[in-house]
Amino acid sequence: MQNLRVHDKEFEPYLSAEAIAEKIEKMASAINKDYAGKKPLFIAILNGSFIFASDLFKSISIEAEICFIKLASYKGTKSSGQVVTAIGLDTDITGRDVIILEDIIDTGKTINQFLPQLINQQPKSLKIAVLLHKPEATVFPVQIDYCCFSIPNKFVVGYGLDYDGLGRNIKEIYRLKEE
Ligand code: IMP
Ligand code: MG
Repeated sequence: MQNLRVHDKEFEPYLSAEAIAEKIEKMASAINKDYAGKKPLFIAILNGSFIFASDLFKSISIEAEICFIKLASYKGTKSSGQVVTAIGLDTDITGRDVIILEDIIDTGKTINQFLPQLINQQPKSLKIAVLLHKPEATVFPVQIDYCCFSIPNKFVVGYGLDYDGLGRNIKEIYRLKEE
């Protein structure tokens, strides 16, 4: 795999499409087992999680529902610190077994800001499944129940994750190359 240029920055190959697919299969198997007979409701957080959510959901073999919300806090390669709800939740989650799908937990701010709204609606259970977690960057602690990859604190693109709007359509995950 070759390096990738997105806007003004150079990225190097990091996680292959095969490695990602393998971890997602494992996560789906664990969820299929843990939620057998429960009909969970997945809530995928747009935009970043749409490819992860789609691939994971295709491997869910138990009865399940999915819906989407849109939160945003990023500008370029730095978190803006401001989390905006661009599309809210339109599904009643009271009494439901809810699994949040997020592309990446970085500072943890996005998810922490969103959780109280969900807890208010009294779901039966609430778990978090993420593709990537940057433990070193996390300042607002998050209980992560399912995670594909724990990664160092470096900016990544691809597989749904963007750098200023670009790179989401790349099949692999690339990380920012240090100059
Ligand atoms: P947090 O609120 O700092 O945890 O940031 C979460 C959101 O920021 C994610 O849903 C992503 O959309 C975005 N984000 C965080 N780190 C990265 C990255 O390395 N690449 C691309 N987007 C990122
Ligand atoms: Mg983003």
